[in-house]
Amino acid sequence: MITSIGLENVVVAETDLSLVDGQKGQLVYRNYWARDLALEHSFEEVAHLLWYGHLPSADELAVLKEKLAGEREIPFHIKSIIDAIPENADMMSVLRTAVSALGTPDHGWPPTMEQVISLTAKMPTIIAYRYNRLQNKEPKAPRADLGHTANYLFMLKGKEASEAQVRALDAYLILTQEHGLNASTFTGRVVASTRSDLVSSITAAIGALKGPLHGGAPSEVTDMLEAIGTKENAEPWLRAALEKGERLMGFGHRVYKTMDPRAVALSKVASSVAQDDPWLDLATHVEKVALKLLEEYKPGRGLNTNVEFYAAAVMRSIGLEAELFTPSFAVSRTVGWSAHILEAANNRLIRPQSIYTGTIPAE
Ligand code: CMC
Repeated sequence: MITSIGLENVVVAETDLSLVDGQKGQLVYRNYWARDLALEHSFEEVAHLLWYGHLPSADELAVLKEKLAGEREIPFHIKSIIDAIPENADMMSVLRTAVSALGTPDHGWPPTMEQVISLTAKMPTIIAYRYNRLQNKEPKAPRADLGHTANYLFMLKGKEASEAQVRALDAYLILTQEHGLNASTFTGRVVASTRSDLVSSITAAIGALKGPLHGGAPSEVTDMLEAIGTKENAEPWLRAALEKGERLMGFGHRVYKTMDPRAVALSKVASSVAQDDPWLDLATHVEKVALKLLEEYKPGRGLNTNVEFYAAAVMRSIGLEAELFTPSFAVSRTVGWSAHILEAANNRLIRPQSIYTGTIPAE
């Protein structure tokens, strides 16, 4: 029997959605470099590529945008459920609960494009509704005349974001739409492989994304940078953390043993939206020191900056608070999760084995 704790290097599926090359530091979505898509296309165009297999024509794009815009409203019962959740619950728990509550008999097997579009369209509305309620503000109704990303920012902030802010968030949301069999996508595929419904698969995937070793890292990057505070404190702080055996958030990746290409692209986006920002200046310095110390404390492990490090910088620079970082990741990754679930709809049940290390009772 082949064993691989953590399923490292185990292949469990074929996909034509994306290639994640950890040695070369490359990320491809269906024959396109993800970095190019992030800079030259919109959230909806790249979602179309992943869901339908090609970038849309102008007509196809208009149809998809209209469908998404038409599905943004969340039903009354979802608002009531969100309102019933205690204020101290974190946003990912709220998102998981609200998405789970969307399940209806219509969300059966096999998953359909209509279900996928409806769910994708509602994710930003759920987050913005909760965010505004917590601030005692009247949640803004979604606006059908705005694109997915612009409408998300509008609902969160109650006013239209600048074009530069929308472009920066769009780039982040495109770069994180899809990423092979990461823990949350794998989780979604496991659930789908039992022929459970789309909502159950996505609810489970949200639970997996929430963890700090996966999608929960960017807010911890912010915590780390705030704790460091000044450039002078970077080396002593990071050294002390590594001496204690702690992990530096925003560094390391199971697949990438060279620079995460999403981090490369996002660092450029961060510099363009946050020029002269002292926080970005500190982040860039911390990155340099962290990479040096990781080589000293963990030589040969191939630990580099990952996407979450610059995700924090980009989201912060456009005015999103840390509590919105991982939920925003879920907004984008819903596209990849659902593309995988559609692709794997008729696959074999995923059912690995474990090695029993206990004792066997006498016959
Ligand atoms: N800081 C310090 N040491 C680290 C780090 C880190 N960020 N990441 C890994 N290591 C060390 C680890 O302690 C181990 O050392 P040793 O060989 O002495 O035991 C070695 O590197 C290998 O670690 P591992 O746990 O086997 O590696 P993994 O492939 O299971 O971990 C990871 C991948 C992302 C969970 C890990 O690098 C980590 O915890 N990073 C910090 C959290 C983070 O930034 N997560 C976001 C990942 S990118 C977003 C996404 O795609 O989900």
